[in-house]
Amino acid sequence: MNIHIISVVPDLLESPFNHSILKRAKEKGLLNVYVHNLRKWAINKHAQVDDYQYGGGAGMVIMCEPLVNAIEELQQTTKFDEIIYVTPDAEQFKQTHANQLSMLQNILIICGHYKGIDQRIRDHYITKEISIGDYVLSGGELAAAILVDAIGRLLPGVLNDETSALTDSFQDGLLAPPVYTRPVDFKGWKVPEILLTGNPKLIEEWRFEKAVERTIQIRPDLMKE
Ligand code: ADE
Repeated sequence: MNIHIISVVPDLLESPFNHSILKRAKEKGLLNVYVHNLRKWAINKHAQVDDYQYGGGAGMVIMCEPLVNAIEELQQTTKFDEIIYVTPDAEQFKQTHANQLSMLQNILIICGHYKGIDQRIRDHYITKEISIGDYVLSGGELAAAILVDAIGRLLPGVLNDETSALTDSFQDGLLAPPVYTRPVDFKGWKVPEILLTGNPKLIEEWRFEKAVERTIQIRPDLMKE
């Protein structure tokens, strides 16, 4: 999968994809991430990419011209399955979105900054808008990094059996059950006996029960869904 990201602060995206699982995905050639600096398409020698908003009000808006030029230039070499704008005023990102997006070949993510991007770009170029939660970040870069992480780890071949995504929270609509590792007794706090029985059926049932219990307690809204 190829993920392109357009940003005015590309340095913010230097590190997130170069560690752990995503690093492995890149090394295996399963995931390519290309970060583009919007200022490359700036409208003048002052590297301008934003301007005041019509109607007044605080905050700058990313202009049509540089962003549209950037998108169209990238489109010359890549046919994007989705052009995603990350913004707080959008539908909230869920595991189901990550699952769907992980099946695509080419994605372009646009990071907003300041007050966001000119509405006309949203109307005519953006195919999907995603918020990572009901709070406002300084820009879309961290949101984009979250999308790439959530999508990248689902790509076939990225996770092995031990890290399988199938047992993640949300994959079956439930939070994940508790997990334990050695030692079996730490300060008198013991690992639940059932996990030591070696009986896969009993263990599976216990995990399911715990997942349901935890979901009812912490995220009852998921049970309704
Ligand atoms: N940009 C700023 N805040 C954001 C959020 N909550 N989700 C996605 N993009 C954002």
